[in-house]
Amino acid sequence: MYLTIRNTLAMMLIALCAWSGRPAELVAQVGSEPEPDQQVVLITGSTSGLGREVAMRMGSRGAHVVVHGRDEERGMAVVDEINAGPGSARFYAADFASFDNVRALAHSVLRDYDRLDVLVNNAGFGSAPDERWESEDGHEFRFQVNYLAPFLLTNLLKELVTASAPSRVVNVSSLAQSPIDWDDVMIEKNFSGRRAYGQSKLAQIGHTLDLHEELAGSGVLVNALHPATYMPTGMVQRLGVTPRATIGEGANAVMQLIMGDVEGGQFFNQLTPQRAHEQAYDPGSRQQLRQLSRELTRSR
Ligand SMILES: NC(=O)c1ccc[n+]([C@@H]2O[C@H](COP(=O)([O-])OP(=O)(O)OC[C@H]3O[C@@H](n4cnc5c(N)ncnc54)[C@H](OP(=O)(O)O)[C@@H]3O)[C@@H](O)[C@H]2O)c1
Repeated sequence: MYLTIRNTLAMMLIALCAWSGRPAELVAQVGSEPEPDQQVVLITGSTSGLGREVAMRMGSRGAHVVVHGRDEERGMAVVDEINAGPGSARFYAADFASFDNVRALAHSVLRDYDRLDVLVNNAGFGSAPDERWESEDGHEFRFQVNYLAPFLLTNLLKELVTASAPSRVVNVSSLAQSPIDWDDVMIEKNFSGRRAYGQSKLAQIGHTLDLHEELAGSGVLVNALHPATYMPTGMVQRLGVTPRATIGEGANAVMQLIMGDVEGGQFFNQLTPQRAHEQAYDPGSRQQLRQLSRELTRSR
């Protein structure tokens, strides 16, 4: 109850700041300052599923973990568990269906940390239910939550990640990739949750390749991956399919991209580099995606 009221007040504050033109910031928890030499890792969507497991693993390795999601109760449970071990953590609530929330998250990270060694863009919403929704900013919901929000967050944190090199960006995508129809990016015709999820995951890979090229020589390693097929997480439960892989297998694949000996600019199917959908490599499509994403998020 207390957490719900705090969350509602935080969301109202973000809306008020957006209205007044001032960047909103989120409240940080006290008592979990990172040590000057401690690795700082932001894992979006770490209140459950794959992100939670990766957050725990990084905490147990002594990192400071910036835990993110919408659900404060689950977020604080992750923070408490990490703070009880060798690592430390803080939770920040932000709904990726709102660009104001994403900006508030980025401003808070820039306020509270002077380094960011790893950014894992993991938060996502799956293909079920098979319904078309719009985000607070009026865009197709999955395209915003899974792609535009991490595009914006990464842009806002790019300088900090670059200043923290050697550093890494890991984009948690999927093998479920659908080409973007440039005449109907917001899927107003022939909608399916599967198509919406798939195009958001393909867009994430295009952005990975762009970022890799942009940051070449900077010491920032950028990769994307399919972590594992049908892990028993929230989105797979909503889909109603029988899980085929464990969350541990997916976490192993993410950990490889966080700390393994890999080259950048690749899409991995779990532990192995693999060619993604052809549209992700097409220069014309990448240019179109880049331009649209910059316009919609008002960022570069
Ligand atoms: N499960 C699989 O088999 C599978 C396969 C391929 C790829 N993936 C990818 O793996 C990633 C993690 O998914 P998962 O399987 O672990 O699913 P999950 O258990 O449903 O976790 C999703 C995470 O994203 C957060 N999230 C969802 N909607 C959000 C929103 N609007 N704003 C902010 N955060 C939001 C959730 O936080 P709250 O609950 O706190 O909102 C949660 O922490 C996703 O990118 C997914 O596409 C999963």
